[in-house]
Amino acid sequence: MTENVLHAIDTIEVKRLPPDPDVMKAIGLSHDMTTGLADLVDNCIDANASKILIRFIRIGGRLRSLLVIDNGRGMGDKRIDAAMTVGRRRDYKGDSLGHFGMGLKAASFSQADTLTVLSKKRGRLAVGRRIKRAHVQDFLCEVLDPGQSGEDLEAALFEVEADGGTLVKWDNVRTFPTATDPTITDEYLSHTINRLRLHLGLTLHRILGTKVSITIDVTDADGGGPGAPSTVQSVDPFGYKRSGKASYPKDLICDVGGERLSITAHIWPPRSEALGFRLGGDPSIGQGFYFYRNNRLIEARGWKNAASTNRRLQLARVEVDISNWPELFDINMEKSSVHPRPEFIQAVESAVAKDGTSFEDYLADADGLYRESNRRGRTRQPVLEAGTGMPAKVRKAIQVEYPRDESRAALEIRWTDFYDGDEFFEVDRESNTLWLNKIYRKGMLAGRRGGVNDLPVVKALLFLLAEDVFRGAAFGPRDKDNAAAWQAVLTAAAKEETGK
Ligand SMILES: Nc1ncnc2c1ncn2[C@@H]1O[C@H](COP(=O)(O)OP(=O)(O)OP(=O)(O)O)[C@@H](O)[C@H]1O
Ligand SMILES: [Mg+2]
Repeated sequence: MTENVLHAIDTIEVKRLPPDPDVMKAIGLSHDMTTGLADLVDNCIDANASKILIRFIRIGGRLRSLLVIDNGRGMGDKRIDAAMTVGRRRDYKGDSLGHFGMGLKAASFSQADTLTVLSKKRGRLAVGRRIKRAHVQDFLCEVLDPGQSGEDLEAALFEVEADGGTLVKWDNVRTFPTATDPTITDEYLSHTINRLRLHLGLTLHRILGTKVSITIDVTDADGGGPGAPSTVQSVDPFGYKRSGKASYPKDLICDVGGERLSITAHIWPPRSEALGFRLGGDPSIGQGFYFYRNNRLIEARGWKNAASTNRRLQLARVEVDISNWPELFDINMEKSSVHPRPEFIQAVESAVAKDGTSFEDYLADADGLYRESNRRGRTRQPVLEAGTGMPAKVRKAIQVEYPRDESRAALEIRWTDFYDGDEFFEVDRESNTLWLNKIYRKGMLAGRRGGVNDLPVVKALLFLLAEDVFRGAAFGPRDKDNAAAWQAVLTAAAKEETGK
């Protein structure tokens, strides 16, 4: 029996079996609003656009449509027909983001019931096409009146300061909230725009800023014009200021069937608050591979079985450029995940850097740094929270570095009149405040504007020096003696600095 299965069986005929048109309903089902819009934005970038506007349109308080407008090269009659064709692949240049000939249709019908595309090459007439989801399985596409298409398109292109480009419009978006309550729409918008900014900022972080700008806004079609636009900022998952460990990042060389694929191993500094590290969630979710294709991040995070996800590996991230390895990595149609062949994982496991560091050594380095920083963090004495007087960023830094002493309220550092006294500060344990003598303020500001959070360096130094006298049950003799010595030294310094 088993032997028979191994034998090739003769072919007697080849039949062509076209898909059932109903299959069209299934395309793009694993898209969501953010991955769907990313697919449209990819198309704008492939068309060489430098400005892209994503616009939500509200009518009578409810969201109705969504536009993506770009100042790219636009399309003529032939190209727009190809664009509307499901699965029509074009000749892709080496650096194209497109690949399947599906994105525009799959992304659009995953979210909306009607897709309209208006486009125009510079100096040419506009063209317009529309497909309704209900007709998608019959492959029917409406050709729109060029004059009217041109008028609508011109108004849209004005927003990206161009006379050529493309407008993609989604109507009857199924994922928009249907409630008429404006607070629900507002909440949906702020949540969706935040997710979009993070997703686009991350996937396109290498492209944004230098070559391309993306803005998002909301327009009330009843009047009032567009609200304040928000610009998508790049979110760099390798954007630390200093590497967590001195000899990193390191290139590890993977031997794949005799060819060398270089991957870059990074170690983040511990406890970073940067958005590129946190990625809007728990710090341990960011570890793993970051797969790039033509400078677009396809999939971020996860070890694909080359390691197991573990809190202690939270500082480890590996950059992999799959652009030149199409046979080694498959990408899904939504361009949100990468499936490496087993050979890749095997090659990673035996990868080594020039200095002999193996993949295993790298993971051990990242793990070691995390554990060491955790130990340091744990043995630090808790301190009071910094309150009024300290800028938010300094408060945050204190909070990140020290465990918090919960026994008392936040320590405030504030200026006040000392009337006759010339002491620099006063410890007021009752109101949890370190008062600073106002007579020195102007001199120390040296022409800068004062405010509650002024002079952060002086205040941070004072916090680090004197915070512990506010803790504990009593202002003991040691605290008193310390405070007296600081008072003498700081008052002399303040007088010197301000010429009093
Ligand atoms: N904004 C645009 N500007 C110019 N041409 C566009 C634009 N959007 C789509 N096109 C054209 O339509 C074609 C089809 O787009 P679609 O996203 O469906 O497939 P693709 O980009 O070729 O591949 P993929 O499925 O990987 O995205 C593109 O190849 C491009 O020629
Ligand atoms: Mg595409």
